[in-house]
Amino acid sequence: MRIYDIIKKKRDGQELSTEEIRFFVAGVTDGSIPDYQISALCMAIYFRGMSVRETCDLTFAVRDSGEKVNFSAVNGIRVDKHSTGGVGDKTSLVVAPVVASLGVKVAKMSGRGLGHTGGTVDKLEAITGFRTTLSDEDFIRQVNDIGFAIVGQSKQFAPADKKLYALRDVTATVDSMPLIAASIMGKKLAADDDCIVLDVKTGSGSFMKSLDDSKALARLMVDIGKNAGKKMVALITNMDRPLGSAIGNSLEVIEAIETLNGRGPADFTEVCLTLAGYMLSLAGKGSVEECRQAAKRAIGDGSALKKFRETVAAQGGDAGLIDDPSKFVRAKYSHAVKSGRSGYICKSDTEAYGLASLILGAGRNTAEDTIDYGAGILLKRKTGDRVKEGEEIATLFADDRSLFAEAEKKLLSATRIQEKKPQDEPLVYCVIE
Ligand code: URA
Repeated sequence: MRIYDIIKKKRDGQELSTEEIRFFVAGVTDGSIPDYQISALCMAIYFRGMSVRETCDLTFAVRDSGEKVNFSAVNGIRVDKHSTGGVGDKTSLVVAPVVASLGVKVAKMSGRGLGHTGGTVDKLEAITGFRTTLSDEDFIRQVNDIGFAIVGQSKQFAPADKKLYALRDVTATVDSMPLIAASIMGKKLAADDDCIVLDVKTGSGSFMKSLDDSKALARLMVDIGKNAGKKMVALITNMDRPLGSAIGNSLEVIEAIETLNGRGPADFTEVCLTLAGYMLSLAGKGSVEECRQAAKRAIGDGSALKKFRETVAAQGGDAGLIDDPSKFVRAKYSHAVKSGRSGYICKSDTEAYGLASLILGAGRNTAEDTIDYGAGILLKRKTGDRVKEGEEIATLFADDRSLFAEAEKKLLSATRIQEKKPQDEPLVYCVIE
């Protein structure tokens, strides 16, 4: 078998066999296929798509590309949630401690930023000292002791996805339904959690821009998980506006801490409570509404924040930052972005907001780039809000002042202001069970 022939076959729109897909993933894993041929096949898949059978084969090959984590030593039901990626999406930092504080185990493996979207591992690394790698033994011990541990993907775990993820990030091949489904479900099946809640983002800041595509992606992933014996549910959530007000690593962790303190932005808090409600309900803790109320109480009585603090301390992070977020790394400079006219913000190109944050240094443009943890954007006004000419709509943060002009231009051209107040859009469009 030759990878050249496989690329050509997909380029010409033909269906790949199970053996061809396994050959590709084996070559990605052992390094025998060079990056340019992997990227070429990803691009062919991007344009030609994959059948359900091909997507399942790719998912299972990714799952089997490395070692599975053996969770048999974890006592109790484990639940996970995974987002397809968005802007300002720091939900894992809130829902995982909420759920763990209510007695359901969360053994979380998270990713780094991808394309214009942020990644939980990058955010956690904004907490001084926080270790995002743990040995399997320490990981499992912490899940048993505290109920919650969160790490990045280890080298042995779904290594094919690690390689594909990094290459897709820099070759404009992220937003492909089969590649997203295989990436997410390959990892979820390798992690072997009992229950999985998927947060499938839809809209301008997500990889799936239309509601129909997002629903199709959700259906595909739910079916793959169910066929593998998992309890699954997918929520389609709104990414036509950034979630919450903070975009950028330190800024987002601070917002998550505020939310765990009960002072989070309404939209972000609402999405977190809904996700936590479904996670707890899938784990058998009651109806979705009962679980949502329990999640609300866990925030109200401080138990979720306590759980987050415990986890941060256990993983070597400076827990003093959780008590006093003003101590987080801050960017050297800030810059106010002002509205050029009065009216209502009726639309925001949320992907462009994510890109503006990358320009400021909050993410990577190449796989080797380092992140500036204090960089990012704090939104003062969002879609639906009224603004006056000259009023601040956002504050930009960066260590290099020269980055402000380009980021400001991007943000302003991504923000449409009109006379008429836009109609409210739902935060959660639908649930696929
Ligand atoms: N999250 C993942 O883990 N993979 C993708 O492809 C997109 C989002």
